Amino acid sequence: MTRPAIIFGSIGMLGSDLVAAWERVRAEEADALPPAVGVADWNVVEITDERAVGEFITRHEPRLVVNCAAYTDVDGCTRDPELAMNVNGRAPGYIAAACAKVGARMVHISTDFVFDGKSDRPYVEDDPVGPISAYGESKLAGERAAQQHLPGACIVRTAWLYGASGKNFVATMLRLGRERDELRVVSDQVGCPTYTVDLAEAILRLILAGAEGVVHVVNSGQCSWCDLARKALELAGISTPVLSITAAEFKSPTERPGYSVLSTARYTALTGRRMRSWTEALPEFIERYMSR
Ligand SMILES: NC(=O)c1ccc[n+]([C@@H]2O[C@H](COP(=O)([O-])OP(=O)(O)OC[C@H]3O[C@@H](n4cnc5c(N)ncnc54)[C@H](OP(=O)(O)O)[C@@H]3O)[C@@H](O)[C@H]2O)c1
Repeated sequence: MTRPAIIFGSIGMLGSDLVAAWERVRAEEADALPPAVGVADWNVVEITDERAVGEFITRHEPRLVVNCAAYTDVDGCTRDPELAMNVNGRAPGYIAAACAKVGARMVHISTDFVFDGKSDRPYVEDDPVGPISAYGESKLAGERAAQQHLPGACIVRTAWLYGASGKNFVATMLRLGRERDELRVVSDQVGCPTYTVDLAEAILRLILAGAEGVVHVVNSGQCSWCDLARKALELAGISTPVLSITAAEFKSPTERPGYSVLSTARYTALTGRRMRSWTEALPEFIERYMSR
């Protein structure tokens, strides 16, 4: 019997592009990857239910599990840190423990929010962590739980995701740009906008390379939220002015890292590939988004 791969969160923003990339690779070369069993959402397996996770993984006896499932509403995590800790902090440990029992590898997705955002150079994988939000704390706990039960787990930290099938900053700016006379967007937070299609391809490369440990994967280059909004509107032909404001003026319930740039040098060393720039990836997304 061929041991499959399980993808938790397979209809999420990243999960759906990962499933599509998986199918593309298998269509070209069936043996390159095991067949994927997508776990759509918590209706199929509630990942905070340790027993359900264990039974599902034991039943399918996968070769590999990719966990894209998470509670990704950052302000929601601030309001309900216990739910955040259950989904993002404890569940990855349940998945990792079940993987260890059946001898499966695991890839788990994490975030730039594990850092405090006070660095003055791109973060590398072993830089000290120091989350400043409930979301960041819960995701860091998830990294540790996964590694505790499965020391060889691959933890992919990414940031500022946008993609075709989920709520995200770029899609929101395109919508608001059409609805409003002007937009006010934060310019004192800097990061690496990352297209889920590029991240999905990078995850497959890491799987094929047998990567273990923490790996940062983002599109290269950096910008502020304000820069990103301006570029997205320009590419979409929307002329609404985008005014720059500070994070303090935006008054979010959640403190976010000021500097979130991640170094992808380890990814390149492991796979021999460089992540393309966000300025190359964004036009592809806008074209896909506008033509749907
Ligand atoms: N989005 C970003 O900007 C960003 C940045 C850095 C890192 N990340 C990380 O990247 C990964 C993928 O993010 P994404 O933006 O693709 O997330 P997403 O679109 O929110 O997808 C997450 C999926 O997980 C499912 N899920 C939530 N709670 C669950 C539970 N208790 N049991 C089972 N399934 C559950 C969700 O189902 P429902 O929709 O039904 O709740 C959804 O299908 C996450 O680990 C996230 O932390 C995201």
